[in-house]
Amino acid sequence: MPEKLLCASSDLSDTTVKICEVDGVEIGIIRHNGDVVAYKNVCPHQGGPVCEGLRMPRVCVEFDDQQRALQQNFDESEMHFVCPWHGWEFKMETGEAVGDPKIRLKRYKVTERDGEVYVEI
Ligand code: FES
Repeated sequence: MPEKLLCASSDLSDTTVKICEVDGVEIGIIRHNGDVVAYKNVCPHQGGPVCEGLRMPRVCVEFDDQQRALQQNFDESEMHFVCPWHGWEFKMETGEAVGDPKIRLKRYKVTERDGEVYVEI
């Protein structure tokens, strides 16, 4: 697959998704756990700009024996994209939908070299 220049390495951060366009395709790219991940900025639900939504950690709820919620915590080791249109969540690490792992964001292979970031598209 041909490689296309996406952006400079210095354009990426751990806190903000950068949206780039390559061959008419919008791609969201972010540093995550020391890696760089890139996904097509199209939600598999109804096409919303999924990479532009909130990023939030997995919510973990502790229940009592009658299934009443006792407390909730955030698991910062598992970050999610939250689609801004209807709130579907996707694991940032894999692109897998939290509600149905058979549904995934389109992921691109990314290479970083000489201060630039390339994507296979
Ligand atoms: S378009 Fe993304 S949740 Fe509906």
